[in-house]
Amino acid sequence: MSTGLVRRAISRVSSNPASKLLFARAHASEVQAQQVEPKAQDNSKLKTFSIYRWNPDNPSKPELKDYQIDLKDCGPMVLDALIKIKNEIDPTLTFRRSCREGICGSCAMNIDGCNGLACLTKIESGEASTVTPLPHMFVIKDLVVDMTNFYNQYKSIEPWLKRKTPPPVPGKEVPQSKKDRAKLDGMYECILCACCSTSCPSYWWNPESYLGPAALLHAHRWISDSRDEYTKERLDAINDEFKLYRCHTILNCARACPKGLNPGKQITTIKQLQLSS
Ligand code: SF4
Ligand code: SF4
Ligand code: FES
Repeated sequence: MSTGLVRRAISRVSSNPASKLLFARAHASEVQAQQVEPKAQDNSKLKTFSIYRWNPDNPSKPELKDYQIDLKDCGPMVLDALIKIKNEIDPTLTFRRSCREGICGSCAMNIDGCNGLACLTKIESGEASTVTPLPHMFVIKDLVVDMTNFYNQYKSIEPWLKRKTPPPVPGKEVPQSKKDRAKLDGMYECILCACCSTSCPSYWWNPESYLGPAALLHAHRWISDSRDEYTKERLDAINDEFKLYRCHTILNCARACPKGLNPGKQITTIKQLQLSS
């Protein structure tokens, strides 16, 4: 029985001295149980996290630094471990995070060789894990990478509704049927975490000229939107040997996406649309 329930029960029987004694004993046993609880939990489960560290203000080379934590006293996800390390061992450890539930995309990093969101990646049961920044990105500090090029590429596909004609009812939204809305499934869910682009070998070798799977997925999202009236212009804008045709359908992107999306498939559809347009 919780302390709150015990208190409420005691107040209900306060007129009866025998019941009062009984409940007071129950409460005392509960307090005792709470006191012995820490003893029962002291078989700790230690795990080492080797984390990439680099500080631009310190001229030394990047290094993997080991931190040992007790998993018995930590949440289940890699982000929980990072927050615990920052709070309790090393406040200089730097990483991005916000929502803690796979929505903001800011905690993307490489965990044991795979890109993923730290907040959605469970801590593996093994003795050690390695956490490094997203691959082939410029590092700002520790696990924080420079996303400027990635966001500029996203911006370049003009990710907003473009119309040549006014809405059917002036000043109102442009309606869309449920069937047309369903065509955006598998694309609108993207959270721009960059796990896909930074796992793509073509993007590694041509990060400036190849748009990469995330930006191309969004390009197709707007090409597919029944309300958009710039479909041809959008297709023409990315009909380029480098911007689009560096994709060789290796599909690392689909394996890396924490939202279960398949950018490689969307890129193939763009290529088919270009052939038929
Ligand atoms: S399918 Fe294309 S975008 Fe995806 S990883 Fe392969 S080359 Fe990159
Ligand atoms: S497609 Fe998936 S992996 Fe790529 S940016 Fe969007 S959510 Fe992240
Ligand atoms: S903290 Fe937002 S996706 Fe992980």
